[in-house]
Amino acid sequence: MRKVMMTLALALGLTAAAANADYRVVPLPREIAATKGGAYRLNGETRIVYLGDADMARNATFLAEYIAEKTGMKLTTAVADKKNQRGNIVLRTDAKMKEAEGYHIEVSARGITISGATAQGVFYGIQTLRKSLPVLAQAEEVTLPAVVINDAPRFAYRGMHLDCSRHFFSADFVKQYIDMLALHNMNRFHWHLTEDQGWNIEIKKYPRLTEVGAWRSGTTVGRNSDVDDHVRYGGFYTQEQVRDIVKYAADRYITIIPEIDMPGHMLAALAAYPELGCTGGPYEVGHYWGVYRDILCGGNPKTYQFIKDVLDEVCDLFPSEYIHIGGDEAPKMRWEKCPKCQQMISDKGIVAGNKQSKEDRLQGYFATEVQKYLAAKGRKIIGWDELLECNVDQSATIMSWRGAEPGAQAAALGHDVIMTPNSHAYFDYYQTANNHNEPLLIGGDLPIEKTYSFEPIPEVTPAEAGKHILGVQANLWSEYIVSESLAEYQVLPRMGALSEVQWMQPAQKNFKSFVKRVECLRAIYELKGYTYAKHLWPEEHLKGSREL
Ligand code: ACM
Ligand code: ZN
Repeated sequence: MRKVMMTLALALGLTAAAANADYRVVPLPREIAATKGGAYRLNGETRIVYLGDADMARNATFLAEYIAEKTGMKLTTAVADKKNQRGNIVLRTDAKMKEAEGYHIEVSARGITISGATAQGVFYGIQTLRKSLPVLAQAEEVTLPAVVINDAPRFAYRGMHLDCSRHFFSADFVKQYIDMLALHNMNRFHWHLTEDQGWNIEIKKYPRLTEVGAWRSGTTVGRNSDVDDHVRYGGFYTQEQVRDIVKYAADRYITIIPEIDMPGHMLAALAAYPELGCTGGPYEVGHYWGVYRDILCGGNPKTYQFIKDVLDEVCDLFPSEYIHIGGDEAPKMRWEKCPKCQQMISDKGIVAGNKQSKEDRLQGYFATEVQKYLAAKGRKIIGWDELLECNVDQSATIMSWRGAEPGAQAAALGHDVIMTPNSHAYFDYYQTANNHNEPLLIGGDLPIEKTYSFEPIPEVTPAEAGKHILGVQANLWSEYIVSESLAEYQVLPRMGALSEVQWMQPAQKNFKSFVKRVECLRAIYELKGYTYAKHLWPEEHLKGSREL
């Protein structure tokens, strides 16, 4: 299938008349100014030369790979010296540039320079150049019109999430997903690693988490039907694989934020270590989708030790400043009846208030214990917006998922916020209301236009609170994402729309213009053999036979 698509793409490229670069890519650069003078002629003699360290050498190699992928031209890379800069592509940092992730491109007949305040900024300049190039099989020359481009992102946090627990995705696919993030100028990968239906990361101190917790003995068929497929399902990432993926992401300027969801969504861990639950079990790794009432016991010192031990290993694996501690959907019925939880509430003097029960506030105590433990290691917690309902410390960054409203409230209270509202950024949702030809999904109706229309800073938010909104992320929950190609289909090209929300100034955004420019991404999806949704190309969408 991939091979066929690749051939098709090359054929499309061969028949395309224009061999000119087009800088109007996705996300659209802030300023594109055509300049006088001749165009640059990129050909097999062009060299990519760089000033800088290993990061810049890697940038040069990426650019060479991208040019080869689009045009067949195999350019060499070299450290820049006095003689080899003229006439070539030069990559360099520029200490005068102010925005850390910004970049500047100059194209003239004499060569191309991509500069950035940092190697990361240069990397985004490289992505823009990559997307600007036409697809040509074995091209001899590509013409790049003379131009000056200045660009920098609006938001510092530009993320995508992937749930690897409801369905497990291979380490190779996770790397491909990271490639997809890089193509869309994103810099955070939120890796959801533990759930009721599977614990998917190796923790050496607690081997049963993966021996038992990584596997379920069956999965409900359809949408929580009474039928179970009785097929053993699961998998996990070894610590060696995790380290390899963390480095792979870092090479592409992407920080991985691991999520260990607590105290809810812990049934797989309870199946492995039943003493951590309020009732003591027995428990079974979840077969159904939804919210389970069995959560970690908030009154048992063993729970706190378990979490600290797990986080020790997680912090060792992930250098990220943020560690995601979940916090969503934690029903309190077990805690209400559990002598240990009630004892903890009374020992700590926890009282109800502000529409929060004492059990809600026990969750706040739990989160604060974790926050203090991580702060001592120089890390910060990030969690779902339910944390706002349990009196959590202001140092917690809030991920607003039940719409954008909780994010606005959190920002007003002084929390940093990442917007990931289910109204605009849940890519597990359908992409069309007319969904009878779509694969079985969780529901929802989130066409790409709607994602595109998202404004992360609500109008009512005062400027000071607005500064707390650090960025935007979309989530791919995987209850119904039964294959890697379906994962691709759900996120592409909606990631293109998201990238403009994350990167561009709102006044510059325009959906009609996006629809034209998204072709630059589509060409790369085709070259890579990614499966993508074709709702923007209705004729193809209708005739498409999809293997999802
Ligand atoms: C969530 O979707 N439960 C964060
Ligand atoms: Zn308990």
